[in-house]
Amino acid sequence: MQIVRDVPALRSAISALKVGGGRVALVPTMGALHEGHMSLVRRARDHADHVVASIFVNPMQFGKNEDLDAYPRQEARDAAMLEAEGVAILWAPTVEAMYPAGFATTISVSGVSEGLCGAARPGHFDGVATVVAKLFNQVRPDVALFGEKDFQQLAVIRRMATDLDMGLGIIGVETARAEDGLALSSRNAYLTAEERARAVALPDSMREAVAVLEAGAEVDGTLVGVKNRLAAAGFGPIDYVELVDAGSLQPVRRIGGPARLLVAARLGTTRLIDNMAVSAPGIRSL
Ligand code: PAF
Repeated sequence: MQIVRDVPALRSAISALKVGGGRVALVPTMGALHEGHMSLVRRARDHADHVVASIFVNPMQFGKNEDLDAYPRQEARDAAMLEAEGVAILWAPTVEAMYPAGFATTISVSGVSEGLCGAARPGHFDGVATVVAKLFNQVRPDVALFGEKDFQQLAVIRRMATDLDMGLGIIGVETARAEDGLALSSRNAYLTAEERARAVALPDSMREAVAVLEAGAEVDGTLVGVKNRLAAAGFGPIDYVELVDAGSLQPVRRIGGPARLLVAARLGTTRLIDNMAVSAPGIRSL
């Protein structure tokens, strides 16, 4: 596996990779890799001949008071994991390579970026859309894979790729979970042992809510129930507990088609997010 840190070196590594033909898949990450990222890499191999992974902790998507400096960085370990999964190129640019002096462009996706994490983290999705557009232009992959764990992020990237005719496939991969159901996230490393034990209230309360919603329960009352359960487990503040249309991400109060339950809440100093599919009452989830 080649580790590449600047754009000219990436261009020649990608050209060499494409000489023999074959499809290229990109798995963009911010590092601190876990089984969720590895499932993206494995899935990427089903869609392409060569897998390129990127590791870049993107300053543009962190707010002023967020965890940019504290974000876990463990590149040597990450690189070994990627190499073991057969990744051809690790694109690990420096901040200067990604945002050279004079950089002045921002991509802003309206609609799906607004509300939910977009409301709680102003500017976050502009930072995500901008860096992902740059990664797509740098690597020029045939497909790129993203976890459904960041469901709103996936919707933003799909919208951007369609609107800007980026000509690649965007593949969403189901959330990888720990045995107790907690969604895997690099930020889980911030949880104390005691918080980690309490964190299971998040997937537990969501799973129960999905079951009652699919049985026809009233939406507002069910969402309040999730909030109360999270508060009782020590979560707070709770940014949102919302039921949205799975495509538009607009709130729904009567489930007529595929919907999604999305939650973001803090446990101690750690902000956790999760989401689960909700089918209309009487229609079983696939
Ligand atoms: O999901 C992430 O890890 C990041 O938001 C991404 C897509 C790599 C962009 O920095």
